[in-house]
Amino acid sequence: RHRVLSGMQPSADSLHLGNYLGALVNWVTVQDDFDAYFFIPDLHAITVPQDPEDMVKRTRVAAAQFIAGGIDPERSTLFVQSQVPEHAQLAWILMCMTGMGEAQRMTQFKDKAARQGAEAAGVGLLAYPMLMAADILLYQPHGVPVGDDQRQHVELTRDLAQRFNSRFGETFVVPTGFYPENGARIYDLQNPTSKMSKSAESPNGLINLLDDPKVIAKRIKSAVTDDGTEVRFDREAKPGVSNLLSIFAAFSERTIPELEEAYAGKMYGHLKVDLAEVVVERLAPIRTRALELLDDPAELDRLLSQGALKAREVAGPVLADVYSKMGFQPPS
Ligand code: TYM
Repeated sequence: RHRVLSGMQPSADSLHLGNYLGALVNWVTVQDDFDAYFFIPDLHAITVPQDPEDMVKRTRVAAAQFIAGGIDPERSTLFVQSQVPEHAQLAWILMCMTGMGEAQRMTQFKDKAARQGAEAAGVGLLAYPMLMAADILLYQPHGVPVGDDQRQHVELTRDLAQRFNSRFGETFVVPTGFYPENGARIYDLQNPTSKMSKSAESPNGLINLLDDPKVIAKRIKSAVTDDGTEVRFDREAKPGVSNLLSIFAAFSERTIPELEEAYAGKMYGHLKVDLAEVVVERLAPIRTRALELLDDPAELDRLLSQGALKAREVAGPVLADVYSKMGFQPPS
């Protein structure tokens, strides 16, 4: 069976709707057809300052949400990045194969570095995509299910895999990004030209999986819509309504044209009320299940440690092959 692999940072107290529709929904689907690896990239989270106590908590919260959202830890391998030392080891090698200009061109690096101020930004921010490439290449996955904002990082990973293969001989599988049809880019509800993100200025534009259903309904109902009254998908002229339509399509069996037809002649308010109902109905059981799982942190920790052992069985031999191809002397 082909493999897939993906990860989500433990950098907030809950996953948000972008994480869910951009990635988690696809993770659950690919489990059926692939040997799947899902992990929590805690090493990535420290490229911006993190509180250690939050890190412990947020790592478990992420794991609980993956499982509550439909990841089966018996079928798929679920683990924490820092428990598999091969990630950091391969990252170093890939950093040595990446050009400075190539790394500086990454838009996520440019955004985050700009936010921190050029002087304050750490080297980790620049190295981040090479660690992500290592995460991926260690498992030889065929596919990487992610949202659209990770596209450039997946492309860099492909370049690095090809570069390594041509320099040192066939080693890595060159992976493909798997992007969802409707949820690949979910925008902030209050600011629908920016992507939904945990670092948003106001929480009102954000829907968190662990939010109270009442809060979720309220945020959808107060989402910014656009001038005019027509419910129509038009990213340029109607970013607010278009975002609501993509969310709706991602949650239902209906396509965007079907939704446009269903809401022809109706007001934005109708769309919002119905969407709020659909979203709450889907997310409420995930929240309940995640909170139950969090009542037993020891069990979550056990599942994650078990996952790390399984992950190392794959990552260990791949790293050993890389070391040997580079001419590193094995211990005798
Ligand atoms: P992260 O933790 O920021 O996001 C996790 C996943 O959620 C998707 N996503 C979105 N999708 C749609 N709309 C949005 N507004 C939105 N916001 C986030 C992301 O595309 C991602 O799929 N670098 C990665 C984590 C990572 C990783 C990896 C992923 C580290 N190593 C290896 C795949 C493979 C990141 O920061 O995602």
